[in-house]
Amino acid sequence: MARISEQYVCQHCGSSYRKWQGKCDDCGEWNCIIQDTSRDALPKGLSTGKGREIAFTSLNTDHEEYVRLKCGLNELDRVLGGGFVPGSSVLIGGDPGIGKSTILLQAVGLMARLGHKCTYISGEEATAQISMRARRLALADSPVQLASANSVRDIISSLEKADPPDLLIIDSIQTMYADNIDSAPGSVSQVRACSQELIRLAKKLQCALMLVGHVTKDGQIAGPRVLEHMVDTVLYFEGDRGHQFRILRAVKNRFGATDEIGVFEMTDAGLSEVANPSSLFLSNQDKEISGASVFAGMEGTRPLLVEIQGLVAPSQQATPRRAVVGWDQSRLAMILAVLDARCGLSLAGNEVYLNVAGGLRVHEPAADLAVAAALVSSISDIPVPENSIIFGEIGLSGEIRAVGQTDARLKEAAKLGFTNAIIPSGSKVKDPSLKIIEVEHLSEIVRLFTGSKSQNAVEV
Ligand code: TYD
Ligand code: MG
Repeated sequence: MARISEQYVCQHCGSSYRKWQGKCDDCGEWNCIIQDTSRDALPKGLSTGKGREIAFTSLNTDHEEYVRLKCGLNELDRVLGGGFVPGSSVLIGGDPGIGKSTILLQAVGLMARLGHKCTYISGEEATAQISMRARRLALADSPVQLASANSVRDIISSLEKADPPDLLIIDSIQTMYADNIDSAPGSVSQVRACSQELIRLAKKLQCALMLVGHVTKDGQIAGPRVLEHMVDTVLYFEGDRGHQFRILRAVKNRFGATDEIGVFEMTDAGLSEVANPSSLFLSNQDKEISGASVFAGMEGTRPLLVEIQGLVAPSQQATPRRAVVGWDQSRLAMILAVLDARCGLSLAGNEVYLNVAGGLRVHEPAADLAVAAALVSSISDIPVPENSIIFGEIGLSGEIRAVGQTDARLKEAAKLGFTNAIIPSGSKVKDPSLKIIEVEHLSEIVRLFTGSKSQNAVEV
């Protein structure tokens, strides 16, 4: 019989230790290691040769194409790679109150109306609360099977007896418990055991499973990292609570592309899809203001135009402030250093603020040039030429490097009425529907703004 061993497990990353210690060596977190008696002692050796033989096949064996179940929320279907795959499991994480329960209720509500059997099990809210939300979303008449439960054993036995659902939602995995495990719901061993059981159930019943996961204070899905390995797809639902829009981002997808995003807007009747997200992130484009530039970015396969705002102000302090919202702080430091060393534009005595409008987070290095343009425009108080989009990566010697997907970026800009594009030289432009201004070095951007208005290299 397996001996119950004493084990100490980090609640943050799942690392295990023989003895208690204050700090986890793996993730560096303090006070997160607790005793876990649930796991068996080390397994006995397996080299006894008593296993069953497994069948090997070749790579080009014919398999059935995945059937996809579309829920009718097009943005969600697209991020999933074309809909839910039966038997697969999806984990969705996001800050509290961001709208995870809302989007999933909308997904099951719409899908059940299409004639699929959908089950929504909540461990957080009472069924009355969920029905109230369904009324608000105008989905109360949808034939969704709703339950409030926490015991995985009860869920499994109820679902195995009845007609299996096509889509099963568990909101959230941290509120579920398996009664064969001692620790409290939400602990690493509970989360791992419950997910394992539910994923096995989904495979057995061939239903798509969607698990809601809480996130920690630094935005990671709480519980063991292994949870992300166990599921087929990991989605993050992000957004700024001060803003209306929400972004659904796939960070892992065994059945589709990652880096795909879906954009939603939170309204008083739930989440509505945003068909043209670029217009959401562009603030007032009618007026020319200094310190703002429009970056033509890519989010996965989708072009997205965002406004980048820079403010350079004189500082009285010994160490002037640098504050960044929506972009990488160290990337800003690099651009400031390149402006200083390669273009002779020192901002050492100035405070620098950078903001990506709309609360979006930009990850691409291609935004470098748009950031530099916003900053230089703010210092010189000369607006970026009207109706221009900008993109390009800045190298340490000040050279502007070409970036990918030039045509998709330009096409989106043309669609939204932009007429000029400031882009890296050497970009291969196939369809020049915009007036292209190619730049080779960052100093050309500086020259564009520090000359007088009439000497601008770009006429608009
Ligand atoms: P919820 O879906 O409960 O978030 P999560 O499950 O991620 O914690 O988030 C709901 C939030 O959204 C709540 O603060 C209220 C708001 N909301 C709306 O603005 N409109 C709506 O129609 C609904 C249902 C919620
Ligand atoms: Mg919720």
